Amino acid sequence: MIKTLILLISLTLFASEPISPIPTNIKVNLAKAKLGKKLFCDTILSKDNSTACVSCHNLSKGGADSNVVSSGYAHNKGNIQSPTVFNSRYNFKQFWNGRAGNLTEQADGPINNPDEHNMDPQTIEERVNNSQEYKKLFKEVYSTSYITYKQVLESIVEFENALTTPNSRFDKFLRDEIQLTKDEKDGYIIFKQYGCITCHNGINIGGNSFQKMGTFLDYEMQDDYPDRSKITKNPNHKNVFKVPTLRNISKTAPYFHDGSAKNLKEALTIMAKHNLGIKFETEEVEKIISFLKTLDGEQPKILEEI
Ligand code: HEC
Ligand code: HEC
Repeated sequence: MIKTLILLISLTLFASEPISPIPTNIKVNLAKAKLGKKLFCDTILSKDNSTACVSCHNLSKGGADSNVVSSGYAHNKGNIQSPTVFNSRYNFKQFWNGRAGNLTEQADGPINNPDEHNMDPQTIEERVNNSQEYKKLFKEVYSTSYITYKQVLESIVEFENALTTPNSRFDKFLRDEIQLTKDEKDGYIIFKQYGCITCHNGINIGGNSFQKMGTFLDYEMQDDYPDRSKITKNPNHKNVFKVPTLRNISKTAPYFHDGSAKNLKEALTIMAKHNLGIKFETEEVEKIISFLKTLDGEQPKILEEI
């Protein structure tokens, strides 16, 4: 009885926080996800066998790219910073401008993009069906002797569904399992008080709304980036992007759609100036960074699976 009461009280407290923890018990089809992992890392999916998803989404560096822009097919450069694939299942839309509604629509993008994989569904089907290894693996998962493009996408998406990073120190704090240090807690309070939380909230601490880069002070675009206005054709949506997740943010430099901030200190200074219209004291920046580091989660378990 008392236990139930404590649970109820902690659930109520928990519900009042604007950030929620990543579930520790997500269900994925492991066989399918392992197959997807192999495809994610395989250059067979690119026209000249040069590029794999992993080329631009480094799984040992927070699922993102440490270059300002990524290179794909024929070393062609992309036109925007590559975001993390970790926890992307929790984003309400995919891509900086939200042009894909879900991960399946998303994966179709880079495969057909001339500067990324430069491939087409038919060639992919030919390639995987010509591989004895893939024939065997797909047969085990799908009990089929002909591999379809749809199954290729589905396996990659199942792998992405498994790319969650639970049990960050912050999630443990939310579950009342640990205490944060004073600096980490102060950082979280500042994060809430100054209003970072109005845009960076929810399970992904971002990933659930479109916001303008430069709500207070215009942010100059150095180039013609694919922002929200490219989708809506509304000139007011210039410089509007999906708010990025802040989970594992300490591992995914450089920051912003243009990769212009080399480290968190720079990113926070720019955020404060352009999106809140304030200037931080050095101590405040350090405290927020301490808080942000508590958002580093465990490596996804699927990465340990062979
Ligand atoms: C050449 C580099 C490159 C390759 C190869 C690549 N990506 Fe990406 N990926 C990017 C860039 C750049 C973006 C952001 C593009 C944009 O938003 O306009 C992105 C966006 C994403 C997103 C959206 C994340 C978010 O928060 O919106 C996911 C998911 C993703 N890629 C998965 C994949 C998968 C799966 C593959 C392989 C089929 C792949 N990527 C191949 C560079 C790459
Ligand atoms: C008005 C909404 C809004 C507010 C308030 C806001 N942000 Fe952001 N944040 C964004 C958007 C939109 C981006 C992406 C901007 C871009 O890439 O051009 C972003 C990007 C970031 C990034 C870089 C993420 C990445 O992967 O590149 C960090 C770090 C960040 N914000 C932290 C903060 C902090 C800390 C605060 C409070 C001081 C804050 N933000 C306040 C909307 C906001």
